[in-house]
Amino acid sequence: MPKPLIAANWKMNKTIEETGDFISSFFSMVKDAADVDILIAPPFTSLSVASRLLKGTDIELGAQNVFYEEKGAFTGEVSPAMLLSVNCSHVIIGHSERRQYFSETDEIVNKKIKTARKNNLNVILCIGESLKEREDNKTFEVLEKQLSGSLKDVQMEGIDIAYEPIWAIGTGKTATPGQANEAHKFIRGWLRKNREGAEGVRILYGGSVTPENIESLMAEPEVNGALVGGASLKPDSFAKIVKGAKGRI
Ligand code: 13P
Repeated sequence: MPKPLIAANWKMNKTIEETGDFISSFFSMVKDAADVDILIAPPFTSLSVASRLLKGTDIELGAQNVFYEEKGAFTGEVSPAMLLSVNCSHVIIGHSERRQYFSETDEIVNKKIKTARKNNLNVILCIGESLKEREDNKTFEVLEKQLSGSLKDVQMEGIDIAYEPIWAIGTGKTATPGQANEAHKFIRGWLRKNREGAEGVRILYGGSVTPENIESLMAEPEVNGALVGGASLKPDSFAKIVKGAKGRI
């Protein structure tokens, strides 16, 4: 298993100036966290400045989305080559907010993953069930559908998965470590059954991760990292999460 990954998804937050302020104070706080991979995914407009400021550090840079075509008349979209040109190593694909507000289906997610991988971008694929689906005991069914649809004809090299139950995102309602581990175990089982290289895939948990709950989440055997929204926006809080994850390795 590779090192755990702690990733910040800033969503639609931070101007260029705010990005600069964050990175200058954050870097000195996590200099000794060599046992953990750290990734920051700022908005597109901040990628260039973040790339410049992160140069020479071990902190990796990711985008929050990418389009599935390589170039052309697709107003408002961003291509893999554009992300590579600002030194992105990763891209988040299939976040529930994109599925919910921008009508992204598993088929679209699948096309995006294929184009990203063709261009050697590493992918964090997000999946997760809604509250209603959990209450109706459909969690595994939903995860299975998202996995098979999003990963159709895709090999797992360069792909990590984030399990983000929708009911836990931005709500302050974290999945219990046991609930997270159960879902991760299901995902690992699906990968083992259906794909080569299942053991090399990191399965991150996302949904109201904080400095207070990271250690108990990371204590679970199948939790290999975290995808953090709100608590990644402040340097000290995100640094505490990185250190909390390190404490559990
Ligand atoms: P919060 O950490 O704000 O709940 O967001 C989680 C998330 O959606 C990360 O991608």
